[in-house]
Amino acid sequence: MEESAAVPLVALAAWQALVDLAQVKPGQKELVHAGAGGLGSTVVQLAHYLGGYVATTANGHDAEKVRALGADQVVDYTKTDFAEALSGYDVVLDSLGGDNLAKSLRVLKPGGLAISVVGPPDAAFAEQVGQTLLKPVMALMSRKVRAQAKKLGVRYSFFFMRADGTQLKTLASLYDAGTLCPVLDRSFPFDETLEALAYVEQGRANGKIVVTMPLSRA
Ligand SMILES: NC(=O)c1ccc[n+]([C@@H]2O[C@H](COP(=O)([O-])OP(=O)(O)OC[C@H]3O[C@@H](n4cnc5c(N)ncnc54)[C@H](OP(=O)(O)O)[C@@H]3O)[C@@H](O)[C@H]2O)c1
Repeated sequence: MEESAAVPLVALAAWQALVDLAQVKPGQKELVHAGAGGLGSTVVQLAHYLGGYVATTANGHDAEKVRALGADQVVDYTKTDFAEALSGYDVVLDSLGGDNLAKSLRVLKPGGLAISVVGPPDAAFAEQVGQTLLKPVMALMSRKVRAQAKKLGVRYSFFFMRADGTQLKTLASLYDAGTLCPVLDRSFPFDETLEALAYVEQGRANGKIVVTMPLSRA
């Protein structure tokens, strides 16, 4: 049950970012940031399954772990600047934001796509959530990064996962077949939910955090 609970959000996010948004093709180069984290550990697996050449940033002590998940190249973020080490990428998935996103634009090849799951949001996101009136606001929020991308001849998209039962069914078969595996850091009992949230907020988790509920007798 804990493994199952760790799957839907990150599996759908990985699928929708790589398949729906980036439309990745086998042989393309994909950089996945924080490959040892909750989202990154799933995106690395899916990118590998879809036939990409997968680079990831991770702490050196997680290098073997992310290689086992399917990473072809690991950049130890504590020692090496990924923007100096990597170039010519088709897609970057950024889950760190800020300067990390700005630097990610530089490792893309012309026409490449940087996807951020932490923002800033763009006009397409306003459309996705049915807030068309907010389109100019969200366009303004992402103006700086979009201008940087344009200057470099690359593209920027904000991404936010949405529930999709059909996609989840497809993904479930990949988990059943062992092609994808859930990556858990640790679980907390329900009455320690606040501690679980505090742990997530530290941004140091190696995999998903799960909160367990006592089984109902009904
Ligand atoms: N928009 C969406 O649909 C969507 C979907 C899923 C997640 N998210 C968001 O994505 C963000 C990341 O979530 P997450 O759960 O995957 O993160 P996470 O699990 O908190 O990531 C922690 C991992 O990142 C590593 N790390 C820390 N700084 C790093 C750096 N500079 N470069 C590379 N790795 C680094 C940590 O390594 P150490 O061992 O060194 O600490 C640890 O392995 C969250 O803000 C979450 O809300 C958004």
